[in-house]
Amino acid sequence: MKTLLVKYTPREERSNSKKLLDAFKNEIKNSAIDVIDLCIDVPDLFNVQNMNAYIHRDYLKEEISHEQKKSMEKMDRMTSQIKSADIVVVAFPMHNFSMPAPVKAWFDSVMLKGQTWDAADGKYLGLMGGKKALIIISSGGFYTNGPMMNWEHALSLTTAEFQFMGFSDIRGILNEGMNAGDERVQSTNIQKSLDEVKKIATEWYGK
Ligand SMILES: Cc1cc2nc3c(=O)[nH]c(=O)nc-3n(C[C@H](O)[C@H](O)[C@H](O)COP(=O)(O)O)c2cc1C
Repeated sequence: MKTLLVKYTPREERSNSKKLLDAFKNEIKNSAIDVIDLCIDVPDLFNVQNMNAYIHRDYLKEEISHEQKKSMEKMDRMTSQIKSADIVVVAFPMHNFSMPAPVKAWFDSVMLKGQTWDAADGKYLGLMGGKKALIIISSGGFYTNGPMMNWEHALSLTTAEFQFMGFSDIRGILNEGMNAGDERVQSTNIQKSLDEVKKIATEWYGK
């Protein structure tokens, strides 16, 4: 069994998302662990060269040049990391109501046609069946209830990305209200998220 931990937690030791990810990591049993730190291992963005390489290789099924192959190297490596994992955990803070740009770039890097999803007869097909995903997101505000409910595009988008790739079991934790200005609310919410993280880890790896 293999677990892939994908993190973008630039506040490092102060990050609540990191604390939750570390709590999950402590519960992992009988599994190899692969870690991608998106603050260090920054995913490529699509540009003119790699976009053309991707289209010609994976959509048009053409032979591409050595330079074009090289332009896809990091995306291909990140894609093989997600393909080889049985469980994928992503952890990051909400930025401007969605996922931070490096996290989006990671999804763009691994959501390659013919690798993690495909299309046939006008239908999309996720190729990652049987895998599990856990999404851990911290946010300053509240989105489960209240006036900001419709502004939540972090957990909803991340869930959709994993669904599109066909993941069989997708769990999401929105560790919200971290900037509520009320320490009791904050610590109650963190504890609730920690309990949830541990419950999911026990369910997936055993006691
Ligand atoms: C650049 C930036 C943008 C942010 N945007 C939002 C936002 O749109 N909504 C929100 O609720 N919190 C927002 N926050 C607050 C963080 O999501 C919040 O502090 C979170 O708990 C940080 O996670 P961490 O503890 O893992 O670093 C933002 C923070 C930063 C630095």
